[in-house]
Amino acid sequence: MWEKALPIAELSQQGSRCWSHVKGRIGIFRTELGLHALSNTCPHYEAELHAGEIRNNQVLCPWHRWRFDLKTGHCATGPHFDIKVYPIKEEEGYIWIDVAAGSKVPRDPSTTPGGETDNQGLGTCL
Ligand code: FES
Repeated sequence: MWEKALPIAELSQQGSRCWSHVKGRIGIFRTELGLHALSNTCPHYEAELHAGEIRNNQVLCPWHRWRFDLKTGHCATGPHFDIKVYPIKEEEGYIWIDVAAGSKVPRDPSTTPGGETDNQGLGTCL
């Protein structure tokens, strides 16, 4: 079910916002590739991802720099840390999110053998 999240005017240019919903917090990102909605809570230590840096269609967690693909929610640290993505659209002056349809996107096993990381040690907490 589509729910009204924000007026488009609040995110009409590239950037990000957090939208609090009864089921949690969703990060809304606008990049040169369009709008994206994903869980706003980093699975590492629960930093708010909307406050992170956007780079190469990924958001970098503001605390320890884990990277999440804005389109798939895949975490570069490994598949156990993937986060949900949500359908998103613009209509009637608002950004809408289908909260009930949020889900983790399955990985292609041929491109992530054994769930290996490509984080190259960046942002690792000891
Ligand atoms: S809290 Fe996000 S990488 Fe540590």
